[in-house]
Amino acid sequence: MVVSDAVKLAPRAHAAVVTPAHQSPLGMSLSLPRRLALLDWSARNKAWIIEDDYDGEYRYVSRPLPALKSLDRDGRVLYAGTFSKVLFPGIRLAYLVVPEGQVEQFEQVTESLSAGCPGLTQTIVTAFIGEGHFARHIQRMRKLYAERREATAAGLESVLGKYVRIDLQPGGMHLILRLRGNRSDRRLVASMREQNLYAEALTDWTTRNDGVSALLLNFTNIDSRRTAENFGRRILKLM
Ligand SMILES: Cc1ncc(COP(=O)(O)O)c(C=O)c1O
Repeated sequence: MVVSDAVKLAPRAHAAVVTPAHQSPLGMSLSLPRRLALLDWSARNKAWIIEDDYDGEYRYVSRPLPALKSLDRDGRVLYAGTFSKVLFPGIRLAYLVVPEGQVEQFEQVTESLSAGCPGLTQTIVTAFIGEGHFARHIQRMRKLYAERREATAAGLESVLGKYVRIDLQPGGMHLILRLRGNRSDRRLVASMREQNLYAEALTDWTTRNDGVSALLLNFTNIDSRRTAENFGRRILKLM
């Protein structure tokens, strides 16, 4: 995110929704100077930054980056996290960390708007965290996903290397397969879905038609390089 461009586009914005740990969907991280520029903009304009840290725990190349919230001296950042990625989506549990002065208002709004998170689920997750299982779980999953990420990239590269360029982002749960030539990602995704193969088209994530063509492909369920090669061969048939 180029903060100065964003300010030009929306000079009267009251809030910015950002995913600084991993841009969604391309996975790059927001650099420190840009983080500081965003914080500076929010402090000067009394605007909010909504930091959506939806999968910041999964970073494979170095330690997880500190949240933007940790640099927030003026209390302008509302930090959102979720258990969808680190536990499972069906748990429907997420959280917001808001500045102290906002807690009461957020509690009121949550009580009147949200369907609520069951107390039992919250108590179980609290115990899971408190007893140290959660931290161990994340460490185990980070290691497993790092292996799967490497194996998937290597397997797909060996079969599809002529037709795609794989962007291996530092984190997240999917790879970006950039399609060489003029192949349409939407068409490929549609034929994959007919074969019960799931991917998303990068074009469906863009607002401008700037010629991007890529598949977003989740690697967390691909358990070996061989599985990835088989998967690659099935995609190759559809190209
Ligand atoms: C950008 C982004 N934010 C947040 C979430 C988490 O949403 P939820 O907690 O409703 O599953 C996701 C999940 O896929 C996401 O992709």
